[in-house]
Amino acid sequence: MPQYLITGGAGFIGSHLAESLLHKGHNVVSIDNFDPFYAKEIKEKNLEQIKKTASLCGLDFHDIRGDIRDSDTLDSLFQKYKIDGIFHLAAKAGVRPSIDDPVSYWDVNCKGAACVLESARKAGVSQVVFASSSSVYGNCKTAPFSEDMFVGEPISAYAATKRADELLCYNFSHLYNMHTICIRYFTVYGPRQRPDLAIHKFSKLIAKGCPIPFYGDGSSERDYTFVTDIVAGTIRAMTYAEKCPYDIINLGESNTISLSGLVGLIEKELGKKAVLDKKPFQPGDVQRTWADITKAKKLLGYKPGVTKEQGIKKFIAWIKEQEKA
Ligand SMILES: NC(=O)c1ccc[n+]([C@@H]2O[C@H](COP(=O)([O-])OP(=O)(O)OC[C@H]3O[C@@H](n4cnc5c(N)ncnc54)[C@H](O)[C@@H]3O)[C@@H](O)[C@H]2O)c1
Repeated sequence: MPQYLITGGAGFIGSHLAESLLHKGHNVVSIDNFDPFYAKEIKEKNLEQIKKTASLCGLDFHDIRGDIRDSDTLDSLFQKYKIDGIFHLAAKAGVRPSIDDPVSYWDVNCKGAACVLESARKAGVSQVVFASSSSVYGNCKTAPFSEDMFVGEPISAYAATKRADELLCYNFSHLYNMHTICIRYFTVYGPRQRPDLAIHKFSKLIAKGCPIPFYGDGSSERDYTFVTDIVAGTIRAMTYAEKCPYDIINLGESNTISLSGLVGLIEKELGKKAVLDKKPFQPGDVQRTWADITKAKKLLGYKPGVTKEQGIKKFIAWIKEQEKA
C-alpha cells in the first residue's frame, strides 16, 4: 500500500489532501510545525478530522510535529517511514504579509524546499509534487495565464519564493532524476480555508454586520478554485510524476469573478448586505488571475466541477456549522 508524505498536512489544503489520499487507500505521513500565521487550534481540528478519517478507513496517519528546515527531523522521518512520494505544501502562505517579512518567507519557502528535496534525494524518494502559486504570473498582461508565459517579474516576495522553488525542483530533476511536478494553484477556497483569505474573512465579517476591508474599486479579478477540485488535480499530478521528470501545471477553475461580484455572491448566500471599508489597491496584489487549464485537462484529466456559486454555498454552510459547534 503506497504511503505519501504531506508537508503542511495540518493546513487548509494539506488536510483535505490527507483525507482524500486516505479515502483512496493510501497511508499518510504529515509534517507540520504549526506556523503561527493562524491559530494552532484550527490546525489541531484539521488533524483530528484526518485521524477520524484514517480510523474509518482502517489506514495509518502519522502526525509528525516538526520544521521542514530541520534536516535531521526530515532524515529520521524518511528512515522511519517508507515514503513513495511527497506532496510539498508546507510554506509561509499569503502575499501581503510576505512584503513585510521577506526574510522569513525566503527562509521557510526556499530553504525549507531545499531541505525537503535534499532529504528526499538522500532517502531515494523519486517523486515530488510541489504546491506553487498563480502569483508567479505577476501582472502578466495576457490572460488566461498559461504555463509557457514569462514569469520573471514576481511582484511580491511570496511569488518570488514560489518561482525560486519551481527552479529548484527543476534542478533536482535534472541532477538526480527526481520527478518533480510543480502545480500552480489559483486561489483555493472551501471548508477550512485559511482565515486570512478574502472569502473566509468577508463571510465572517458580513455575517456579523462588520465592515469588510475592500481594496481598490472592486474590479480586480480572481480565479477562485474549490478545494476538492484542487485536491483531485494534485493527486493526479502524483500519478503523472511516475512518467514525467519535470513539469509545471496550472490548477484553477478557469473562470474569474471580480471582487464586487464575489462580495455579491457572499451577500446573497448570507442574506445580508456588506458594509464596505474602502481601501487603496495593495502593492503586491495582482489585478487579475485567470488559469488556462488546457495542460491540466490534457495531462492530468483534470476537470474542475464546482462553480463559484456552488462553492460559496458550500463554504457558507460550513461557516454556519462552525458557528453552531
Ligand atoms: N490557499 C491558496 O489559495 C493557495 C494558492 C496558491 C498556492 N498555495 C500554496 O499551497 C500550500 C498550502 O496552502 P494553504 O492555503 O493550505 O496554507 P496553510 O497555511 O493552511 O498550510 C500550510 C501549512 O504549512 C505549515 N508550515 C509552515 N511553515 C512550516 C515549516 N517551516 N515546517 C513545517 N510546516 C510548516 C503551516 O503550519 C500550515 O499548516 C502552500 O504552499 C501555499 O503557498 C495556496
